[in-house]
Amino acid sequence: MKNIFVLGGTGFVGSYVCEQLVRAGWQVTVPTRRRVNAQAIQHLPGLTVLELDVYDEAALTHAMEGHGAVVNLVAILHGDPAAFAKAHVQLTEKVARACLTNGVSQLVHVSALGADPARMTTAPSYYLRSKSAAEAVLAQVASASPALRVSVLRPSVIFGVGDQFMNIFAKLQAIFPFIPLAGADARFQPVWVSDVAQAIVRVLALPPGGSVHTWELVGPEVMRLRDLVQMAGALSGAGAGKGRPIFGLPMWVARIQAFFMELAPGAPLMSRDNLDSMLVDNVATAGIPGLAQLGITAAAIEPVARSYLSR
Ligand SMILES: NC(=O)c1ccc[n+]([C@@H]2O[C@H](COP(=O)([O-])OP(=O)(O)OC[C@H]3O[C@@H](n4cnc5c(N)ncnc54)[C@H](OP(=O)(O)O)[C@@H]3O)[C@@H](O)[C@H]2O)c1
Repeated sequence: MKNIFVLGGTGFVGSYVCEQLVRAGWQVTVPTRRRVNAQAIQHLPGLTVLELDVYDEAALTHAMEGHGAVVNLVAILHGDPAAFAKAHVQLTEKVARACLTNGVSQLVHVSALGADPARMTTAPSYYLRSKSAAEAVLAQVASASPALRVSVLRPSVIFGVGDQFMNIFAKLQAIFPFIPLAGADARFQPVWVSDVAQAIVRVLALPPGGSVHTWELVGPEVMRLRDLVQMAGALSGAGAGKGRPIFGLPMWVARIQAFFMELAPGAPLMSRDNLDSMLVDNVATAGIPGLAQLGITAAAIEPVARSYLSR
């Protein structure tokens, strides 16, 4: 029996990953901070939900016992530097040590496009610097542990049913007559959540060992944020099917807008750190393998987004 431990399995990407792992014959364990967060996946056959403080290394190591593979999808999008360090770097260290203690042979770490161990101090945002630092931790662990295969997957922005991306843009255009948009000309290469989940299943089938194996997961089209927002509006029928007018904000105005969004209760729609992340294009790097090398034909965004935004 193939046992796999999926941190972050309750999230947007995690729920697709769990579904595909179950379909591929894996016995899945998902730790969660709160059992109620696992409602969308707990029905999956052979899946066990475990309430756990994933930062408690002893408990994490114990919970991971008997699992041959681990996927780490835990991440935050907003927070102060300490929160990013805790969720991205310290947790990655704890997960890697727990893998070594338990003789895990496959660790799949989901990072983000734009992360790079060489940029852990120079990437433009806390998000990308901490994602980069986590990759640096894994590079060190992998070089010292030949029996553990470490796969780092760097997706661009991810779309699909339940995303917090095209769905949010569509909702905003259902409410507002026009959209003042920060980072309007930032470029992305959106990737379908099912392709990301499939990529995880496929890297798990590769032979263990070696150094870190890095993959960049992107869709077939490079698009500006304004074009994606326009697409979300048009597909959801806003503005008589054309989408609402979009006004790109200059950076200084965008930062003020983000500052006020950060003050609102709950997760902000946009933070100053998110703006900083958009200072670098979110597109694939030449020479790094991706979906095609895993035998996956990346889905284009328009037909998939149409299927859920037009409902
Ligand atoms: N979505 C995208 O467009 C996108 C783009 C590029 C990269 N990624 C990467 O893909 C991975 C999955 O993203 P996602 O969109 O599925 O994220 P998500 O929906 O926010 O899920 C993240 C998971 O992490 C856990 N989590 C959240 N905050 C945590 C914290 N402070 N401490 C410990 N655990 C915490 C949550 O599990 P519990 O609540 O059950 O504990 C949650 O299920 C992440 O590494 C992300 O950086 C995503």
